[in-house]
Amino acid sequence: MKETFKIVNYDRKDSGKGNIEFLNEAEAKKVYDFHKSFPVYTETPLVQLSELAKEIGVAEVFIKDESYRFGLNAFKVLGGSYAMGRYIADRLGESIENLTADKMTSAEVKEKLGDVTFTSATDGNHGRGVAWTAEQLNQKSIIYMPEGTAPERLERIIAHGSEASIVPMNYDEAVRLADKKAKEVGGVIVQDTAWEGYEEIPTWIMQGYMTMGYEIAQQMSELKEEQPTHIFLQAGVGSMAGAMTGFFANYYSENQPIITIIEPEKANCIFQTAEARDGKLHFVTGKMDTIMAGLACGEPNQIGWDVLNDYADAFISCPDYVAADGMRALAAPQGADTKVVSGESGAGPIGCMINVITRAELAEMKESLKIDENSRLLFISTEGDTDRENYMNTVWYGKDSRFY
Ligand SMILES: Cc1ncc(COP(=O)(O)O)c(C=O)c1O
Repeated sequence: MKETFKIVNYDRKDSGKGNIEFLNEAEAKKVYDFHKSFPVYTETPLVQLSELAKEIGVAEVFIKDESYRFGLNAFKVLGGSYAMGRYIADRLGESIENLTADKMTSAEVKEKLGDVTFTSATDGNHGRGVAWTAEQLNQKSIIYMPEGTAPERLERIIAHGSEASIVPMNYDEAVRLADKKAKEVGGVIVQDTAWEGYEEIPTWIMQGYMTMGYEIAQQMSELKEEQPTHIFLQAGVGSMAGAMTGFFANYYSENQPIITIIEPEKANCIFQTAEARDGKLHFVTGKMDTIMAGLACGEPNQIGWDVLNDYADAFISCPDYVAADGMRALAAPQGADTKVVSGESGAGPIGCMINVITRAELAEMKESLKIDENSRLLFISTEGDTDRENYMNTVWYGKDSRFY
């Protein structure tokens, strides 16, 4: 397969302007307060990479470092924990505003709920968040991981007391298995994507991700920084990208930054859906052997897509080596810039944009995104070195799809 960069530019003006009320600041504050009640909570850093900005000729680069999230090395626990919180609040007939982590994990609540089995499918990060939350709740979790999952990711989920296994199928098929299992055991599937008839929990998961946006908005104002002109979001099923797009479209409604969605070309279902723009979701099937394991999803989340369709400005499909470029650029920062340990799915967008901004043959793409010396770029490094072996191979030994 020839590796290529492709872009679809949207004209936001002709969009239907869908509903993003569920991703507004007031909802985000509720989510943020819920997460803040966990003893492990600390705000993750918003790192300013001014030297990198100089190097690539833009005004500023910011990257949110989610490797510090809850000691779990990725942002994903924000979604699973909030959805499980909302589920418990509903079962107790309580409002989420009254359900602190303390209360949710108490023996009294466990007794009221009885035994609950939570199931899920995951490339690693989401399942770890679900298993971690189930562990806090003293409940059981069953997690399925697609073929090709790094064994260390499985081990980390098992370490949270989960019944986890790698199954001989891709991510989307593993999701269907987790759904079947939940039905069989009378459990609850906590999945980070939606399908017809299964919308409530994925909506809560998307809302859960807003803690990142809420923190970024606060951190930007603490730094007395002007708002970003551009935001870049990586997508697997597009729940995270949809949540962040909706949040920032609300938060910066007076002057929405240019929002670009980035995917590996081997799993570019959102890109294909945007390219076709025919009102249908477009799927990628089969083995999606991208190194960006967290983005190896072939079926977009309809709820996330509806937000992206109305509020995103561009969609990029890019080769795998950009993730390696991004990991290295963040691991070996310019001058006084802070180092960020970023895994494949975390570093994809920044690696992609370093290529787009600095390579002459991609100049048209840069221009279509209106990137120039006044641009202030915001990225989210959604994971740290969650696949340590591949991280070392990439950062130390220079492994890269360009050379294989
Ligand atoms: C590290 C990381 N980044 C980004 C994503 C993409 O999120 P979504 O599937 O909501 O698009 C994932 C998904 O698992 C992930 O693990």
